[in-house]
Amino acid sequence: MAKLTFLGHSAWYIEGSNVRLVIDPFLTDNPQSKFKPGDLQVDYVLLTHGHGDHLGDAVEIAKQNNATLVAPYELALYCQNKGVENIHPMHIGGGYNFPFGRVQLTIAHHGSMAPDGTYTGNPCGFLVTVDGKTIYHAGDTGLFYDMKLIGELHTIDAALLPIGDNFTMGIDDAVKAVELLQPRLAIPMHYKTFDVIDADPEEFVRKVSEKGLKAQVVPPGESIEI
Ligand code: NI
Ligand code: MN
Repeated sequence: MAKLTFLGHSAWYIEGSNVRLVIDPFLTDNPQSKFKPGDLQVDYVLLTHGHGDHLGDAVEIAKQNNATLVAPYELALYCQNKGVENIHPMHIGGGYNFPFGRVQLTIAHHGSMAPDGTYTGNPCGFLVTVDGKTIYHAGDTGLFYDMKLIGELHTIDAALLPIGDNFTMGIDDAVKAVELLQPRLAIPMHYKTFDVIDADPEEFVRKVSEKGLKAQVVPPGESIEI
């Protein structure tokens, strides 16, 4: 069983029986987050891309916890240059069997640049398996038809999908993503943090259920077990 806690925006804290991960820990400047970097005990920090609302407090958290930072190659090296000692660079399509389970990087149609202007390579999404449960964190992305392939190759227990529009998929494209991925459960993210992404997560849930599929809102600060 894996426990997923939504930290707001695209930030997720995932606990398995032997591991604690955080993905895209944007906490300090995140108006949705009730958490501060010091609140989290983590073994791994996963980053989808270098934008400030995803990189967030990753460097500080990785240093505080002596955690391993997993990210696309250029972004992992960027974090190493900021003082993170343990990095595990990867790239799109590649997977690695960590002691807790497998992590594979998926495509994400987006950009990637650190807040200081440094190029941080291609953005990604993650397929993460914890305690035998597969979680797909799409990162920031537009809709892409290869989501159908991801759904064919993997049984996704929870798909964490951006719905906010403007920078990523909006609600209707995210509903189509659920149809392509066929996850057991879809959970919306990347909404309401900023005025331009003021999407209604309940509208997403309703439209997914109209397709005969399952979605659920996990409010910031709350958890779900899968
Ligand atoms: Ni972004
Ligand atoms: Mn973003």
